[in-house]
Amino acid sequence: MKNKINFLDLGTQPLANNYLTISQAKKRENKYKLIVCFDIISKIVSIRNTFSSKEMFNNNYPYRSSMSKTMINSFRELSKKIKSEFRPKKILEIGSNDGAFIKNFKKNMTIGIEPCSNIEKITKRLNFNTYAKYWSIETAKKILLKHGKVDLIYSANTISHIEDLDEVFKAINIILNENGVFIIEDPSLLECLKNNTYDQFYNEHIYVFSTISLNNVLKKHNLQIFKVERLKIHGGSNRYYIKKNTNLIKIENSLKLELKKEVKFGINKLSTYIKFAKRVKKSRKELIRILKKLKKRNNKIIGYGATAKSTTILNYCKINRQTIDYFLDTTKEKQNKLMPGSKIPIIKYKGIIDKEVKYIFLGAWNFKKEIFIKEKKYIKNGGKFIIHTPKPTII
Ligand code: TMP
Repeated sequence: MKNKINFLDLGTQPLANNYLTISQAKKRENKYKLIVCFDIISKIVSIRNTFSSKEMFNNNYPYRSSMSKTMINSFRELSKKIKSEFRPKKILEIGSNDGAFIKNFKKNMTIGIEPCSNIEKITKRLNFNTYAKYWSIETAKKILLKHGKVDLIYSANTISHIEDLDEVFKAINIILNENGVFIIEDPSLLECLKNNTYDQFYNEHIYVFSTISLNNVLKKHNLQIFKVERLKIHGGSNRYYIKKNTNLIKIENSLKLELKKEVKFGINKLSTYIKFAKRVKKSRKELIRILKKLKKRNNKIIGYGATAKSTTILNYCKINRQTIDYFLDTTKEKQNKLMPGSKIPIIKYKGIIDKEVKYIFLGAWNFKKEIFIKEKKYIKNGGKFIIHTPKPTII
């Protein structure tokens, strides 16, 4: 497509959530070129190549929303707000994962769609109405037949993972009541650009939305944003409140303010992305320089939080086991496996950090606050963290 201009090349990358068993690590990994582009017409920022949903979201998926207190608290707070502001009778969640959001509501009023059956099983076992399905027109029709229309749809960090946005919003229109509300939460492009968090791009994050670009896509489907909230989640996310055009809910000032901020930053201009790409290259150089210097002095460095995002950094900066001994992670599905591409081992987090470790590369920088509280003893004893955002630093 001529409208799409490549602006950032993050190199050859493996599937970010494809944590390897020892035997898998001996075989060749499936890889792709991670190139990020800007659509000069729709203003959408997306990755050029990815894999099909079936390849990425399978019955072996390792991501669990409930692994972080930050996420659990955020879902709890939002649920309270939803109950008091919108009083929905029926709620649908797209990408319900292990139920961290729907668990805040009565079982008979929620429906969850989660394509990864190993994760969906967790809520099914608890008798929630969850379905191991991909979000599509077909799924929406099936849900409609079984449960009728819904008053509220919520989807956190999922819509940006689905390539065919037209299908996504057509399906929303099928299932959402005329006066219903659709809430999307995804990383904010503005924050990504400001903080140089280029690791927001990987095979699953097909899009990083701005309010401007999302608004442009929604328009085609007679949907509109009526409110935007900025969140600290995942290094800066936006929560978009969306309605059908026919719904007369007032459009709040927050939308105008957000659009204004984005225009001021130049989110609709190609030159902004060219400058961002230059900052990313500089960031890589600086991170490599810091790590090399520490290794030269024989420091042991480990990673904390084997995030999918780290895969982009590790493979782009060509960081491997020679630099980072291992990653600690609380997720059972990731433990005793190897990081994709870099093949750095992932070890179960048991609450103690080896005394020899003086430097930790923070893969889960998006949970910095939570992790710094948890690791206050390590910090008190002089332990340091290495963070790549907004620029590579030791703190
Ligand atoms: P995410 O950034 O993709 O949400 O992934 C966060 C990862 O970090 C996930 O694998 C869980 C892990 N993690 C820890 O190991 N310890 C922690 O304290 C937190 C907050 C996350």
